[in-house]
Amino acid sequence: MDDQVLKSHDETARDILRANDRGGYTVPTAGLYPYQWNWDSVFAAMGFATFDRDRAWRELETLFDAQWPDGMVPHIVFRADEPSYFPGPSVWQANKGPLPSSGISQPPVAATVIRLLADLDPGRAERLFDPLDRWHRWFHAARDPDGIGVIAITHPWESGRDNLPDWDKPGDAIDVSGVGAYTRRDTSLVDNDQRPKKKDYDRYLALVQFGVDRGWDPARIAAETPFFVADPGITAILLRAERDLRAMAQTFGRDTAEIDARIARLEAGHERLWNAQAKAYVSRDTRTGELAPWATSASFLPLYAGVTARKAALLETLDGFAGAVRFTVPSFDPRSDLFDPLRYWRGPVWAMMNWMIADGLARCGEDTRAARIRSDTAKLIRQSGFAEYFGPVGAEPCGGGGFSWTAAIWLAWGLSDTKEGPC
Ligand code: GLC
Repeated sequence: MDDQVLKSHDETARDILRANDRGGYTVPTAGLYPYQWNWDSVFAAMGFATFDRDRAWRELETLFDAQWPDGMVPHIVFRADEPSYFPGPSVWQANKGPLPSSGISQPPVAATVIRLLADLDPGRAERLFDPLDRWHRWFHAARDPDGIGVIAITHPWESGRDNLPDWDKPGDAIDVSGVGAYTRRDTSLVDNDQRPKKKDYDRYLALVQFGVDRGWDPARIAAETPFFVADPGITAILLRAERDLRAMAQTFGRDTAEIDARIARLEAGHERLWNAQAKAYVSRDTRTGELAPWATSASFLPLYAGVTARKAALLETLDGFAGAVRFTVPSFDPRSDLFDPLRYWRGPVWAMMNWMIADGLARCGEDTRAARIRSDTAKLIRQSGFAEYFGPVGAEPCGGGGFSWTAAIWLAWGLSDTKEGPC
C-alpha cells in the first residue's frame, strides 16, 4: 500500500509545511504561489507552533523583515527570483522596503496569532510588539485617512479575498485602457473555472500600475484612486488584532492609550458597514457610499472582533448560508445568483476563514454553530486533502494542493480529534 495512505493527517500536514518551507519562510503552495504571502505566513506559523516552535517564530520574524519604513507589511515578499510568477517584482516596482515586495498589504492577523503564541516565548513576542504597533497605525493612517473607523482596501488583493463579487461594481470605475498584453501564470496551473476572469485580472493590473505611477505613496493613492472600498473582513481582523495587541501591551507594561483610541474608532466604525436588508456587515464603496447588497463569509467576522450588537441577525444569516450548502462556511451567499461554488472567492470554503468565524462564534457562546464549522472543515480535508479551498456543495478540492494554511489550520485547530467516517 502507498505510504501516503498510511500516514496520519497530522503527519501529512506537518510534511506539507516542511515541504513548503523555503528556509525561514513558507510558500503557500509550490508552483502557484512561489513567494512569502503575508497572512498565509501567519497561519503557517500557527501550524509550525504545534511541532517546531522556533520555526513558528522564524516565520513571523521573516515576514516583519519586509516591513516598510512607513509601517506597512507587504502582502507578498519576493525573496527569491521566480520568473514563473506573474505579476512579479518588476511589475510591482515597489522598492520602498528592505526587501523586494508588493506595494499593498493584507489582513493583519499577526497580532492575534502572536498573542496566541506569546506564552511559548514572551521575549520573541515582545520584540514583535513595536513592528505590530507600527503596522496597525499604518492601516489607520493609510486606509482610513479620514478616521471614520472602517478600513478600506486599495486593491482586491489587499482584502485577501481577491475576486469577491463585492469588488465588481466599485471596480467598474477602474480605467483598464493602459493595461497592455500580458501572460497570466495562474491559469496554466489551475483550472480556468476556479480562477478570476480576464476582466478582473485587467483591473488588478491597472491598480498595480496606478500605485506604481504614484510611487506607492499611500496618501496619494487614498486621495486619487477610484477603488477605495471599506472591507468588513480587514476591519474586523484589525479590530481583533488591536485587542490582542492591547493585551500584549498590558503584559509588557506598555501604554495602551493610543491602542484604546484605535479600538474605539473601529468599534464605532463597524456600524457604517451594517446592511439591515442583508442582515450582515458588508463592504462599502467609499467613493459612492453604496453598501454591498449581500453577505459574505467576512460578514461574520465582527463576532471574532468582539462586536456582538447584531449577533441575532448575523446568526440568522449564517443559518441561511448553512441551510443552502453541505459544508460551511461558503465565502459568498449561496442564495445569491452570483454564487459560483468553485470559483475562487465567489462561493468556495476556506479553512482559515472557518477558523476565525468559529472562534468568533465560540467567544460569544455559540458553541454548536462553532462545532459544525469545525467539523465541516475536518470533513472537507479528510475527504479532499489539503487543498487551497473547497466546494461547499460537493467538497471538491480546488485551487492549489498541498496548501500551507490548510495544513496549518488542521494542526492548530486539532482537527484530528474530530470523528472519522463518512460525511
Ligand atoms: C490568493 C488568496 C489570498 C492568498 C494568496 C496566497 O491570492 O486570495 O488570500 O493570500 O492566494 O495563498
